[in-house]
Amino acid sequence: MRAAHARSFDHMAQHFDRFAELVGAPLDAWLASLLPEGGGQRAVDLGCGTGRHATLLASRYRHVLAVDVSAPMLQLAKARHGVANITYQQRDLSEVRADTDGVFYLVLSAYALHHLPDLDGALLRIRELVAPGGRVVLVDNVAATPQVPRRWFVGEALRTLAADLVRRRRPITQAWELFRLNVDPAWLDHLTTDRFLNPQVFADRYGGVFPGAAFTDLYRAQAMCWQQPGPTSAAIQRTGHRSASTQPSKRGTGDTAGGRV
Ligand SMILES: C[S@@+](CC[C@H](N)C(=O)[O-])C[C@H]1O[C@@H](n2cnc3c(N)ncnc32)[C@H](O)[C@@H]1O
Repeated sequence: MRAAHARSFDHMAQHFDRFAELVGAPLDAWLASLLPEGGGQRAVDLGCGTGRHATLLASRYRHVLAVDVSAPMLQLAKARHGVANITYQQRDLSEVRADTDGVFYLVLSAYALHHLPDLDGALLRIRELVAPGGRVVLVDNVAATPQVPRRWFVGEALRTLAADLVRRRRPITQAWELFRLNVDPAWLDHLTTDRFLNPQVFADRYGGVFPGAAFTDLYRAQAMCWQQPGPTSAAIQRTGHRSASTQPSKRGTGDTAGGRV
């Protein structure tokens, strides 16, 4: 059920990409402010979609592994955000494991984890992917109730349109375009079958696996940031010492084109 739901992105790659372009700037800016310059060797984006954040990671880390189950999303990612130091792979993010892929100085996942059938198992595996001194940033939608009715999303689309026009937050054509994307029937079908955690449960479940993590309220979402104890990547580069466990396995750096499905 969840896997089939996640695959609905196969039919919405263009839609999602444009939507993220129109509304994604605040998250991009927040992420950019959070990530260290010259972050280190390796980063991973789990559920990378059309590659928006992988590009940002590629400007801070030497190599980025970006995985997603959706071939159309990845196709667009490679076309729009095909940077030399990003390896895109079609695979389930649950299959990215420390023993096969090595560990990373930055593990990012944005708006993907609510699609997984076993969130707690996924969080434990994600924790194992973080190198000593590395960070994990997990962002996902939250809502007061697990299921949000269609009429709420339509009402929110109307409120957004009104605010965009009254406050002149964006050009009229863009405001209208965003409204049309927000009320697209296939998009609403997807959103109304999503299941969300409420903010308190999000903090409990994520904080249970990442004790002491910092939580930030974002629009209809929560972000969690946690640092694994240990020397930071910059410190390791200064001393020239790198743990063998941070090396990717041969399998983890495989070619992007075929990927592992
Ligand atoms: C809402 S999009 C977010 C994309 C991107 N992280 C962003 O913020 O722009 C969710 C993405 O998660 C992917 N996804 C869902 N379940 C997944 C899984 N089990 N493994 C890998 N990717 C998954 C979907 O294909 C989709 O591209």
